[in-house]
Amino acid sequence: MKVRKLMMSAALMAVLPLAAQKESQVRLFPDQAKQSIPKEIYGQFAEHLGTCIYGGLWVGENSTIPNTDGYRNDVLQALKDLKIPVLRWPGGCFADEYHWMDGIGPKENRPRMVNNNWGGTVEDNSFGTHEFLNLCELLECEPYVSMNVGSGTVQETAQWVEYMTAEDGPMAKLRKQNGREKPWRVKYIGVGNESWGCGGNMRPEYYADLYRRYQTYCRNYDGNRLFKIASGSGEYDLHWTETMMKQARNQMDGLSLHYYTVAGWSGSKGSATDFTPEDYYWTMGKCLDIENCIKEHSAVMDKYDPKKRVALMVDEWGTWWDEEPGTIRGHLYQQNTMRDAFVAALSLNVFHKYTDRIKMANIAQIANVLQSMILTKDDKMVLTPSYYVFQMYNVHQDATYLPIEVQCENKQVRARMGQDGEQRTLPMLGATASKAQDGAVHISLSNVDLENSNEVTVDLSGLGMKSIAGRILTCKAITDKNTFEQPDVVKPADFKGAKLKNGKLTVKMPPMSIVALELR
Ligand code: AHR
Repeated sequence: MKVRKLMMSAALMAVLPLAAQKESQVRLFPDQAKQSIPKEIYGQFAEHLGTCIYGGLWVGENSTIPNTDGYRNDVLQALKDLKIPVLRWPGGCFADEYHWMDGIGPKENRPRMVNNNWGGTVEDNSFGTHEFLNLCELLECEPYVSMNVGSGTVQETAQWVEYMTAEDGPMAKLRKQNGREKPWRVKYIGVGNESWGCGGNMRPEYYADLYRRYQTYCRNYDGNRLFKIASGSGEYDLHWTETMMKQARNQMDGLSLHYYTVAGWSGSKGSATDFTPEDYYWTMGKCLDIENCIKEHSAVMDKYDPKKRVALMVDEWGTWWDEEPGTIRGHLYQQNTMRDAFVAALSLNVFHKYTDRIKMANIAQIANVLQSMILTKDDKMVLTPSYYVFQMYNVHQDATYLPIEVQCENKQVRARMGQDGEQRTLPMLGATASKAQDGAVHISLSNVDLENSNEVTVDLSGLGMKSIAGRILTCKAITDKNTFEQPDVVKPADFKGAKLKNGKLTVKMPPMSIVALELR
């Protein structure tokens, strides 16, 4: 009887994975540190889409929701805490149908338009250039304005730049009449968005010429220096990158890249909250594949620009799931779980590594759309697990990147959603590190393993670190999320599982955890 029981439990153990403690080693190479992590890697994106702007950021001055000049106070404070370096606006696809002159002047005179890309919602243009640029000033972040190449004129584009940045002249006069005396400072402009798709369905050969033409008339006024960004590839369209680099590299400062962690562009993209462990591991693999995508585009750019003058701007990235049941189709409202938090952490780790070429990244999007930082419903606000990753990671902004090597267990996971054949190797530990200007070393670790804890050792000898502080973001189930009823299910807490002895750091990470450590 005893023997049978033993045999049965042995058989069970063979099929059921047992929780165990894994071990990983991390090595830092401070002597090889040469690049800094531009703070713009932590950029955000706000499009006129669903309730991102209206309801999410902006409620208008007459709203009963507490606001400052129309911006909701709760969101404003949460975004200030996040230290946003740059905010991209007004799209996205919306940008190529947006006519900026409809969004200036007295609100009651502003014409309405149909937001054809996003659910056919009627846009009243009450949030326009002034509202956006003033918001950037409140948040102390750089504005990144996307120009309309798809359906706008060259004159419209030229005048918009003049309106925003010139001290004097006809457009400056109009701006002053609308209540803004001094020009704003606008550094980043995008000349078209997804010009291969919603931005005009163009071929790169055609768009490259159009880009050259439109950007010519975007002038530098009165000390304002524009950083011009051309519309780039979606995922792996290397021909687009090659053509743009061949035909227009001398006219651009940056070329964009869009990469979404999405199961495919047709049919269901999968639920944001109801998913299996296999779906989760697939997501981690798809998210990490951005590294390969970046390498391939960089290799093409290197051919034409070996000195890396032209930046690669990942100005849209993040998860894209099915819209939440019961929400308006086309508004791309999705919940956000601990799975999304891992996508945020692992993607930021990759961006840190390639800052020789990548100078900006903008997660899509800031509120109520796709992988949001913030969800709002009437006067309620919830911070998502992704928000907390950005908060825990913002110490890396403008710090010196410390090259890093990770030795950990790997898992073979499905390479394509729903297909068993193809596999890819997924490391169970994600890691990144940087040194701040004040000498503090920040190490961020992700144990993506759903079952196993991980004891991570980091050799810090020679760095002279004496003290350690840490925060942890973890959960009971990977599907855990914050809701309006329960807003604090996934929230960072103090972390006491790290010990420093004789230059060796030991970190005991529970399964499904993200740990941010500060060493001094
Ligand atoms: O972020 C949502 C949409 O995704 C953007 O409008 C578009 O550029 C991309 O396809």
